[in-house]
Amino acid sequence: MADPADAGEWRDYLSTLAPELEFRQWPDIGNPAEVRYILAWEPLANLAEQFRNLRVLYAAGAGVDQFELTQLPDQVSLVRLVDSSMADIMAEYVLYGVLALHRDILTYQEDQRGGRWQPRPIVHASQRRVGVMGVGNLGRAALDRLQPLGFQLSGWNRSLKNVPGGCCYVGLEQLEDFLGQCDILVNMLPLTVETDGILNAARLSCLPRGAGLINVGRGAHVVEQDLLDALDAGQVGGAVLDVLLQEPPSRQSPFWKHPRVLLTPHIASDVQVEGGVAVIAENLRREEEGRPLLNLVDRSKGY
Ligand code: GLV
Repeated sequence: MADPADAGEWRDYLSTLAPELEFRQWPDIGNPAEVRYILAWEPLANLAEQFRNLRVLYAAGAGVDQFELTQLPDQVSLVRLVDSSMADIMAEYVLYGVLALHRDILTYQEDQRGGRWQPRPIVHASQRRVGVMGVGNLGRAALDRLQPLGFQLSGWNRSLKNVPGGCCYVGLEQLEDFLGQCDILVNMLPLTVETDGILNAARLSCLPRGAGLINVGRGAHVVEQDLLDALDAGQVGGAVLDVLLQEPPSRQSPFWKHPRVLLTPHIASDVQVEGGVAVIAENLRREEEGRPLLNLVDRSKGY
């Protein structure tokens, strides 16, 4: 279910890493009852009725919020195709965003446009506190890349995780304390009913005044009007946004031209075909041996 060039790439890697699989491209899928695995980014209508023998739905990406998890029959596993190269690419973007906010590039860009040559004091990385929300495989890769730069690091997660060189705040009861010590906040959470709208006015007001925000999760994590208000009030000093509630945003969206916003079109990372196929190939072996699948989504958690 992709454009033919993309599908061709999946087909090529699959024929090398999992030659036992016959590959069919939507809509030429033959008898749906023969389909065991589906690789898709978008949800399909009537999945369970159409594909009676489906075993695994492979979500071609890191997030699975586009799927209605309650509609998936119990016997169908949902697997995310995130791999270490996807995490590396994401970490690179996070690094870029952190450095841009840390070195006040949004201000210097405004100065450049306004013809002002105005150096400002430099803050040492060791004086800058960077917090990552969501310490899963993507969050951890970002933290690992940030650590050698000397920032003070912390993480916020649903359960306790190891944060290189820093501490992990856990659960909603520690969220405000976490936010209170983030000069730069990086959102890398999965979108679930619990995290939808998590960055609202009340939470943004917990950040130190003038803090920076990087959003590489989902647009819906942030209450956009609350962020715009916080940016205009100076409570949030700058935002690097790779995701928005509506993508692309409408022509009238204030995010296009906001001087304190650096906007990119959902490119922070993308599924990596070779690594994704390696997950599929490994899961074929695990299925045969009755071992748990890699990257299996826990439906009770929603990621
Ligand atoms: C992209 O946003 C993904 O979830 O893979």
